[in-house]
Amino acid sequence: MNIPGPGTRSDGGLGAIAAAGGLHGYQLWLHAEYGPVVRFQLPGAESAVSIADPVLLEATAHIDRRPERLFAFLEPLFEEGNLQVLPADEHAPWRRLLLSVLAGRPSHERHFARFTALASELADRWAGLPDGGPVALQKDLTTLSLRMICDYALGGDSADPDSVVAAFEEVLTEYLGRLYQVPVPGTPEERAQRTGQALAHLRATVDRVIAVHRSDGRTDRSDLIGALIEAGERPARIRDTVLAVMLAAHHTTGVAVSWTLHLLGRHPEAAERVADELDRVLGDRAVPEYADLRRLTYLEMALKESLRLYPPGPYGARETAEPLALGDYEIPAGAVVFYPFWAVHLNPEHWPEPERFRPERFTPQESAKRPRLAWIPFGLGPRSCEGAALAMVEAELLLAVLLKRFRFRPVPGHQVTPIERFVLWAADDIRMLVSPRAPGPAVAPPGRPARQPRRSPS
Ligand code: HEM
Repeated sequence: MNIPGPGTRSDGGLGAIAAAGGLHGYQLWLHAEYGPVVRFQLPGAESAVSIADPVLLEATAHIDRRPERLFAFLEPLFEEGNLQVLPADEHAPWRRLLLSVLAGRPSHERHFARFTALASELADRWAGLPDGGPVALQKDLTTLSLRMICDYALGGDSADPDSVVAAFEEVLTEYLGRLYQVPVPGTPEERAQRTGQALAHLRATVDRVIAVHRSDGRTDRSDLIGALIEAGERPARIRDTVLAVMLAAHHTTGVAVSWTLHLLGRHPEAAERVADELDRVLGDRAVPEYADLRRLTYLEMALKESLRLYPPGPYGARETAEPLALGDYEIPAGAVVFYPFWAVHLNPEHWPEPERFRPERFTPQESAKRPRLAWIPFGLGPRSCEGAALAMVEAELLLAVLLKRFRFRPVPGHQVTPIERFVLWAADDIRMLVSPRAPGPAVAPPGRPARQPRRSPS
């Protein structure tokens, strides 16, 4: 059977995407119009097959290849290869190695105190703002998440984190600016020079950290560069991989936390439940310990619901190596399979009233009713995000620190409009007013009666 989809246009599909207000709007329209499997023109790949049904996605979950041409814009960042498009046989050992560090509890525990200190520094700064700000959540939280991954990957002492953060921002502004045709200040020569210097600084920093590790022979499974050295990888490959991890991690977590605060700011009952839980679990402590995180179950549900409604990485892509049977259809070898994570998350068959923010969807009972791939903010299969577990720890910690200390309210009249910029961004940031919460339980906001202390069931 032929895969349904709109007719071919000479502009490669750009006009249709623009007319729908972006790739996301276009995906939603395509799937509403043509069903769960759609063939469409994807700029940069000629044609692609998009799949918004979590059960059909299972048939693609083994595919271990990304379409190189869609990642070509990142090529200049890497000297020996971009992890994201390594061939399957080369990729598999790197994935195992990365997971052994990034997904392991030792690395989370080892970096937790430093992450907490960074989160508290931001909270202190916000607390000092007159009249509650407003604060630009995305700007502040993505800078913080880049800072956290720098510390995690490079170690707090061996690198000058501010200069690494600045260099990374420089490089990304240039490459993403090219991809999304966003104007970047300066002549092409000036920009090339700035980007070249920033990239050289990043490479030299990673090389220095590698050299220090080699000389002191320190290795353990909580340390990314140490583990890569121990595995016998060459310095240039290690450097490329560390940059790829930083690239993948740099904004995603900060964006996830911003969207969660945005949603909680618009749903005071849910925000209050999170605050109650924090008071219950932390008591009068301002920050959590690592072991507290697993007791913050409602906070985790709110974060998961936010990752559903605003997945920071909204799309994924694969390339078939052989023909693939997909329900009634057959996808040929060499085709681009497009993963519209956002459309999968809004599929009304699995998510009733999909646009509504309802953390209760993520109770274990509700989750068990859904197909495995209905919620995929970290992707799927052998190319899914190796940083998922670390990202959840970081995001829960940040939310716990911020929501224990502050209430967040939307700035009246400020429009929050999602746009796709490699991650799912808000066009004019997410501006919110922060006000201190009094420590401890049962403090009512002005104008509301104080809550009664909870009674134990009799
Ligand atoms: C909330 C935060 C994050 C989200 C939503 C996220 C999401 C994603 C998604 C959607 C992909 C592509 C998956 C696919 O194609 O199936 C990805 C890839 C990746 N992510 Fe994350 N990510 C997050 C944080 C992180 C962090 C903190 C790290 C590392 C410390 C990380 C490391 C990676 C790497 C290395 C890849 C490339 C995977 C590969 O090709 O082997 N991510 N991430």
